[in-house]
Amino acid sequence: MSFNTFGLLFRVTTFGESHGPALGCLVDGCPPRIPLTPADIQYHLDRRRPGQSRFTTQRREPDAVKILSGVFPDPATGAEMTTGTPIMLMIENVDQRPKDYAEIKDVYRPGHAGLTYDRKYGFHDYRGGGRASARETAARVAAGAVARKIVPGMIVRGALIQMGPHSIDRAKWDWDEIERNPFFCPDAERAAFYADYLDDIRKKGSSVGAVIEIVAEGVPPGLGAPVYGKLDGDLAAALMGINAVKGVEIGEGFAAASLTGEENADEIRMGNDRSPRFLSNHAGGILGGISSGQPVVARFAVKPTSSILTPRRTVDRYGNETEVVTKGRHDPCVGIRAVPIGEAMMACVLADHYLRQRGQVGEAIAWPFPK
Ligand SMILES: Cc1cc2nc3c(=O)[nH]c(=O)nc-3n(C[C@H](O)[C@H](O)[C@H](O)COP(=O)(O)O)c2cc1C
Repeated sequence: MSFNTFGLLFRVTTFGESHGPALGCLVDGCPPRIPLTPADIQYHLDRRRPGQSRFTTQRREPDAVKILSGVFPDPATGAEMTTGTPIMLMIENVDQRPKDYAEIKDVYRPGHAGLTYDRKYGFHDYRGGGRASARETAARVAAGAVARKIVPGMIVRGALIQMGPHSIDRAKWDWDEIERNPFFCPDAERAAFYADYLDDIRKKGSSVGAVIEIVAEGVPPGLGAPVYGKLDGDLAAALMGINAVKGVEIGEGFAAASLTGEENADEIRMGNDRSPRFLSNHAGGILGGISSGQPVVARFAVKPTSSILTPRRTVDRYGNETEVVTKGRHDPCVGIRAVPIGEAMMACVLADHYLRQRGQVGEAIAWPFPK
């Protein structure tokens, strides 16, 4: 009962910790004959990789992925394809510095997982937080790269839409902008502001939280099951399962509580292609736990990094009250690198539900029905 696996048909098991020799995942249930090369996965890992700007941890990890199993050259073209057997992906850790953690070996960082690991297991891996370290999320991003290939035509993208109390201006949203700044921020002006804002926080040895939005386009209608396999429920669990995430919203989310029924109704017309055309998307693309064919939209709130330079009151493993200061290499805003992680978790959930729908229903239902 150790719960290192998620998904039902598209099933991902991750292994490894911050300061071990390697980490990775085993992806089981991927259909055969899907083209897959290390480059397909590396592209996404590179977006999450640490040390790419002064705004993320300076740990230097190339995060080079190796595909250890589950692919074979297509006899006709020679291109590497999935075989339908387990896909093992491995990433070596190369820049561990366990000494950085020697001072806080026996002391709990408020907001980190040392105390709860000790109370559950009787020990905790203090080197970078061990399994509680977000190094583990590299494996999720690798699995997500495989998942993205399963749902034909699906595109999953994410953006940082708030840092600390400062939201973006949604009218200035430009998806192209996301790859041009170190924050995955779709509003160029806000990104420039975030640079100064986060520099100030970083230089003080402090940290700040963020809100991330993930959007999946090209999601077919029908994914998700009433009642215990709701797509929104599974998405919430997957996103909440990312380190430091403290809240998840689908569509209008908490703001729906202050709307009227008229405002919240996503009115429906017929599109020229004889598909339903929604006039808004307050539902975030999910109705009754089932995808509607609209973009699936989720947001999550990430707390500020708990490892900060300001002394915080705490206790040690032996019950003594003390103070802790966390030095070493840390992300001043973990929400930045959470963007590709959120995309990966969304892709894994959607791939899993796509395969479940194919298993139960098969061909897409022909709609509208003849009268
Ligand atoms: C991309 C990413 C990077 C992170 N980097 C750090 C870090 O450098 N230092 C730190 O204290 N926590 C970091 N965290 C958060 C911890 O992993 C997390 O707070 C800790 O495991 C406790 O779990 P919880 O916050 O989910 O309760 C990071 C989280 C993410 C998503």
